[in-house]
Amino acid sequence: MPKLIAPTVVLHAAFLEAREEWGEGAWLHGHGVRPTDDVVSAAGFERWVASLHDQEDVSIPPIDGWVHCTYRWIVEDERFLGAIALRHTLNDWLLQTGGHIGYGLRPTARGRGLASWALGHTLETARSLGLDRVLLTCHPGNTASARTIEAHGGVLEDIRNTGPDRVKRYWINLRP
Ligand SMILES: CC(C)(COP(=O)(O)OP(=O)(O)OC[C@H]1O[C@@H](n2cnc3c(N)ncnc32)[C@H](O)[C@@H]1OP(=O)(O)O)[C@@H](O)C(=O)NCCC(=O)NCCS
Repeated sequence: MPKLIAPTVVLHAAFLEAREEWGEGAWLHGHGVRPTDDVVSAAGFERWVASLHDQEDVSIPPIDGWVHCTYRWIVEDERFLGAIALRHTLNDWLLQTGGHIGYGLRPTARGRGLASWALGHTLETARSLGLDRVLLTCHPGNTASARTIEAHGGVLEDIRNTGPDRVKRYWINLRP
């Protein structure tokens, strides 16, 4: 049974194993790893996990240019499968490109509907934060992500040019 849990240092080895499966230099969608984060050493991983918790804590000002964000990890039997991030508000970049919610699963965990399951729970969290609607975006070629969004009632607003890339922008209404 998969679970959504708050980030924890206990899963360091499991996280590194999953990261390796993504491949060298891959962008781990929804995981909140910045290029400067050291997730390999025990101390670095501890700092990173603490920073993920800090980002959720609205009593702590967010990092410059970032917004408050709740991260949850998708795990099963101590195996790290992926992550989902819920940004509490939108800044200009998020409104244009990033959206409220990002997610990613390690390659061997894909194709089981886990993203849709995690998104369902995260929409409940967004509702409990008082959000009326959330923006989700994906690359026009990312069929799996588009279908995940559409399965939760995502309504396509537009496909926008965002500089180097184009992005499909969907809104999910959270109010009846
Ligand atoms: C996008 C992602 C999170 C989807 O998660 P998932 O749990 O594997 O999704 P699923 O396998 O259940 O697929 C969702 C839907 O897309 C369909 N799908 C999956 N791969 C597909 C493909 N290559 N082509 C067409 N449809 C595809 C599935 O059939 C399913 O459709 P259905 O709900 O109508 O049955 C996952 O593929 C991933 O982590 N990708 C890399 C990171 C990423 O792209 N994150 C999102 C950034 S916007």
